[in-house]
Amino acid sequence: MKLIVTGGCGFIGSAFLRLALQRGVERLVCLDVLTYSGRRENVAELEEDKRFRLVTDDIADAEAVQRLVDEERPDAIVNFAAESHVDRSLFDVKRFVRTNIEGTLCLLEASRGMREKTGKAPRFVHISTDEVYGDLEHGDGRFSETSPIDPRNPYSATKAGGDLLALAYAKTHKMELVVTRSSNNYGPRQYPEKLIPLMITNALTDQPLPVYGDGKNVRDWLWVDDNCEGIWAALQKGRPGEVYNFGGASERENLDIVHGILKALGKPESLIRWVKDRPGHDRRYAIDFTKAKTELGFQPRANLEQALVETVEWYRRNEAWWRPLKGASFQAYYAEHYGKLGLKQ
Ligand code: NAD
Ligand code: DAU
Repeated sequence: MKLIVTGGCGFIGSAFLRLALQRGVERLVCLDVLTYSGRRENVAELEEDKRFRLVTDDIADAEAVQRLVDEERPDAIVNFAAESHVDRSLFDVKRFVRTNIEGTLCLLEASRGMREKTGKAPRFVHISTDEVYGDLEHGDGRFSETSPIDPRNPYSATKAGGDLLALAYAKTHKMELVVTRSSNNYGPRQYPEKLIPLMITNALTDQPLPVYGDGKNVRDWLWVDDNCEGIWAALQKGRPGEVYNFGGASERENLDIVHGILKALGKPESLIRWVKDRPGHDRRYAIDFTKAKTELGFQPRANLEQALVETVEWYRRNEAWWRPLKGASFQAYYAEHYGKLGLKQ
């Protein structure tokens, strides 16, 4: 199989690239423009493999995308590329619209373009998120694939836009396309602005751990490699035009996660700092993955408490990876933007 994977220098995409090479793909092209969260070091060891090629272009550049698809003629495209952080979507929504909607459109159009030239479009897996369903209260049920689409922040609204556009192409243009919607991933190489790596790296450096609101928001934590196994299965056998939810069967309140990290590092609870809540903060995400289990054999394997300790260990051992990311420009970016919104105070 020849694959183009977009956003492969990011957190989940780079884990997926590793899996794809292990599973014996014939050719693997990573298309990534290397934004702040796209790290070349995430694919450094893959660059030694003859099957691998890194192309640094923007998925929202229609010509560049068409050129690459025509040149590579892939059997499949897996689209991870996105602006992925909810907090940043409070500051810079245009960038989210460009990548998450327009970029998705360019990839879909390039796939149609390949069909016009060769008679066959690549199979397409579009990576979406459980956030498109909006939020739940404690005690509500869980999101299934038929739950209404009800995004509540600019990030999830743009993800919903890309997701619905992709599904529309599956129907209108009869593309062999599958959408996956997963819950919160965790594991190595996650950019240290998201809850788990931010808290680990702050605790390691004795910085305050900023907890939004009452700390009782719930996320359903999914080990990144479990998500990648699900995406691989969706690539192989997902039914065209269908959506598959992936969850970790590990719902936890944010404060439980923070306590777990402090315990693993032997750091005091006095590091916790209560800060103003995120605007539009979704209360709870919970995933029903029965469909993925039945049709794809998806099953999350990780035990959250053990895998969280493993994640903490990875950050402890890989300070050279995250330390430069938390330097002056990271601090200045967040100080400016959070300051304007009166957040993290
Ligand atoms: P990430 O921010 O770590 O990585 C995103 C990658 O996309 C980076 O390598 C970046 O350089 C690249 N990229 C961004 N804009 C691009 C563009 N215009 N052209 C080419 N490349 C571009 O994100 P992640 O956490 O790995 O998320 C990957 C995907 O999974 C996203 O689509 C996200 O919405 C989805 N998702 C993430 C989670 C999670 O918990 N992290 C959960 C559900 C779904
Ligand atoms: O559910 C899937 C989504 O999970 C993905 O689509 C997104 O790409 C990914 O970023 C993630 O979104 P969240 O908003 O849930 O993740 P984040 O790590 O930003 O926050 C997790 C929870 O922790 C959320 O309730 C907000 C809270 N939080 C976060 C930060 C960064 C804090 O309390 N303090 C913080 O400093």
